Amino acid sequence: MSRPRIAVLISGRGSNMMSLIEAAAAPGFPGEIACVISNRPEAHGLARAQAAGIPARAIDHTAFRDPSGKPDRAAFDAVLDATLEAEQIDLVCLAGFMRLLTPGFTRKWQGRMINIHPALLPSFKGLHTHERALAEGVKIHGCTVHFVTPEMDVGPIIMQAAVPVLEGDTPEALGARVLAQEHVIYPAALRLVCEGRARIEDNVVRVDEFELAGHALVVPPPAG
Ligand code: GRF
Repeated sequence: MSRPRIAVLISGRGSNMMSLIEAAAAPGFPGEIACVISNRPEAHGLARAQAAGIPARAIDHTAFRDPSGKPDRAAFDAVLDATLEAEQIDLVCLAGFMRLLTPGFTRKWQGRMINIHPALLPSFKGLHTHERALAEGVKIHGCTVHFVTPEMDVGPIIMQAAVPVLEGDTPEALGARVLAQEHVIYPAALRLVCEGRARIEDNVVRVDEFELAGHALVVPPPAG
């Protein structure tokens, strides 16, 4: 893949999206953020992307309903897919995209779609990860960048960062500590994927060389 064109999918404030846009703006970054798409028209991230000069649009998922009025996920995903194809997208980054994707869409983009999750997978899949980490009394928490597969929050792990859980932590304080690391590992993992260096072997991501400075504890994939 020569300098892949990247779409970032968001639903909200877009702080991870901004970390990707800023990283990709640096000279020599091996990919180009071609567009930002939100499933929520009111997402603050849309204005932030536009201010950074990235084309950004909403595809409002609430507009897609079947004749009985139920959400039509397949119809939404079909428009999303057509939009990505029209933009000639090579790689998709889910960045706080709070919408389940259909297995058909996910399979089509498998190996070309990555996600950031605010926990050390496979622990704490799903929502409210910081509250649940505190309730379980874990001493280490963190975040994960992984390839997306049809099952939610499962898929080959590209990179993780760990942070300590401190005495007296609130979900907000812990979440802020994790978010700072999300902003470190997501651009780093995207770089590896753009360079074609995150190889999946038997469901495990391997990479030949890895270097990253300025983090709490970043765990790269094993050498292949
Ligand atoms: C992040 O914590 C991300 O890990 C999770 O949703 C949050 C999105 O935050 N999937 P932001 O929109 O990137 O600021």
